[in-house]
Amino acid sequence: MHTAYISPLPDRETQTAPRRLVVLGSTGSIGAQALDVVAEHPERFDVLALTGGRNVALLAAQAMRFRPRFLAVLDQPLAAELRERLPGDYTPEILSGPESFVELAELSEADMVLSSIVGAAGLPPTFAAVRQGTDVALANKESLVLAGGLIRAACRESGAALLPVDSEHNALFQASCNETAASLRRLILTASGGPFRGRDRAFLETVTPAQALAHPNWSMGAKISIDSATLMNKGLEVIEACHLYGLPESRVATVVHPQSIVHSLAEYVDGSLLAHLGPPDMRVAIAYCLCYPERVALSVTPIDLVRLGGLTFEEPDLALFPCLRLAREAFAASPSHPVVLNAANEVAVALFLSGALPFLGIPRLIERCLDRHDGRDIPDLSSVLDLDHEARERARELSGALRD
Ligand SMILES: NC(=O)c1ccc[n+]([C@@H]2O[C@H](COP(=O)([O-])OP(=O)(O)OC[C@H]3O[C@@H](n4cnc5c(N)ncnc54)[C@H](OP(=O)(O)O)[C@@H]3O)[C@@H](O)[C@H]2O)c1
Repeated sequence: MHTAYISPLPDRETQTAPRRLVVLGSTGSIGAQALDVVAEHPERFDVLALTGGRNVALLAAQAMRFRPRFLAVLDQPLAAELRERLPGDYTPEILSGPESFVELAELSEADMVLSSIVGAAGLPPTFAAVRQGTDVALANKESLVLAGGLIRAACRESGAALLPVDSEHNALFQASCNETAASLRRLILTASGGPFRGRDRAFLETVTPAQALAHPNWSMGAKISIDSATLMNKGLEVIEACHLYGLPESRVATVVHPQSIVHSLAEYVDGSLLAHLGPPDMRVAIAYCLCYPERVALSVTPIDLVRLGGLTFEEPDLALFPCLRLAREAFAASPSHPVVLNAANEVAVALFLSGALPFLGIPRLIERCLDRHDGRDIPDLSSVLDLDHEARERARELSGALRD
């Protein structure tokens, strides 16, 4: 009889040769930590390509250290600046423009692509990699939020595996190994609660970007830090989990756990809870994916349970942080609602960071955009990208009434 597993483990051999790696978004928080893992285990990796957005100084430094054959940045002037920063004896191929990230994601020599560009910009290269049949270590959760169905179908067709880098989904991946789908009751995603846990509405009316960027436990890029402060990050992760594990949103619970030690839990029909615990350090999840199926030593500080003293859990405050509710509703409404949710969120976060929208304007703008959207079919990548573009324009128009 065929057994359906919660998280069918990709049947991958242990490494016998260095893994040829493409790092999309190497200049970001996840990308740079992935290169720290590579630096700790240089014998395991051959860095084939690195991509950045605008930070050519960091990309040049990474390139000189890891000597990839390919580099890519957002536009031609940045590519020229990057070339000038490299020594004469090192002449990698330097590409530019959004299409270059897709080209590198499709490199046939690659064994694995780390998808760590931020936002919807990460979708086209992620999709290209899985369609090509290359395993993807996935940090870019927005790819699944926008096009989870299309990506899963492409994986089934090509045989590519998705290895979840997001710490919660990585935890679930580890906590559901070899368990059957029939034995699972639900998944429980933990959330730190962000920097404003326990604050009231009056406080939230006044918060600044600097306050919102100061996450208590994790050091991350700007966009995900704001998403953590609004709890949109947890909303995006609920959608990500639904796609990864084929569940309705009603079977993906969330709980606030301020210590960020329990990274998520799987609850089984016999009452068992299997959790993954670890230090709040993304290198753990990144290394698990990059070295899968092997677990490798890392120079992270292990948890001292006695010193920690206790682990606490509480309900998220959905009245004060409505983004989590909005994400659940969007996922349940239609396949296109999450695209609008994500586009409105990216526009709102950028406006907040530039000082043009108050913190509480973020959920208000997203809700307005969702209220005005009629669900539609998004049968292919171009329809997703068209809707993303359209929804951003709409969000910018609607933001006028909410700006400071
Ligand atoms: N940081 C975390 O701890 C964490 C945890 C779980 C999941 N994630 C997810 O991982 C992804 C990356 O997050 P992050 O925190 O690493 O973000 P980040 O620090 O802001 O880095 C983003 C990366 O994407 C590049 N980039 C930005 N816009 C781009 C565009 N339009 N086209 C191509 N590249 C572009 C950036 O390049 P430049 O900087 O050179 O411009 C940088 O390399 C996000 O989807 C996030 O949700 C992050």
